[in-house]
Amino acid sequence: MAKILVTGGCGYIGSHTVVDLIQNGYEVISIDNNSRSNPEVLKGIETITGKAVKNYKVDLCSYDDTYAVFRRIPI
Ligand SMILES: NC(=O)c1ccc[n+]([C@@H]2O[C@H](COP(=O)([O-])OP(=O)(O)OC[C@H]3O[C@@H](n4cnc5c(N)ncnc54)[C@H](O)[C@@H]3O)[C@@H](O)[C@H]2O)c1
Repeated sequence: MAKILVTGGCGYIGSHTVVDLIQNGYEVISIDNNSRSNPEVLKGIETITGKAVKNYKVDLCSYDDTYAVFRRIPI
């Protein structure tokens, strides 16, 4: 199963994109620091799709923190 990283996966466009990707067979990982969103949205995604989505609460403006996610998971 192809794995896709969605930035801002807890936001408006991101969360809808995550649902669409899951429904089309992708495994989705999100990076979102929740500066403009509520992590509770992930529960809604799971309710709709039946799949839990892992979100890394990381500031994408931080190279080191973002790079650390890529080191942890092969995308
Ligand atoms: N909603 C629209 O109709 C629309 C239209 C055109 C363009 N856009 C653009 O698309 C993008 C997403 O729009 P949206 O409506 O989903 O916004 P949104 O605020 O709902 O989602 C953005 C997400 O990114 C996260 N985020 C912000 N800064 C971050 C950072 N530094 N590190 C990690 N996560 C961060 C926020 O917490 C949020 O969950 C924005 O750039 C917006 O300007 C939106």
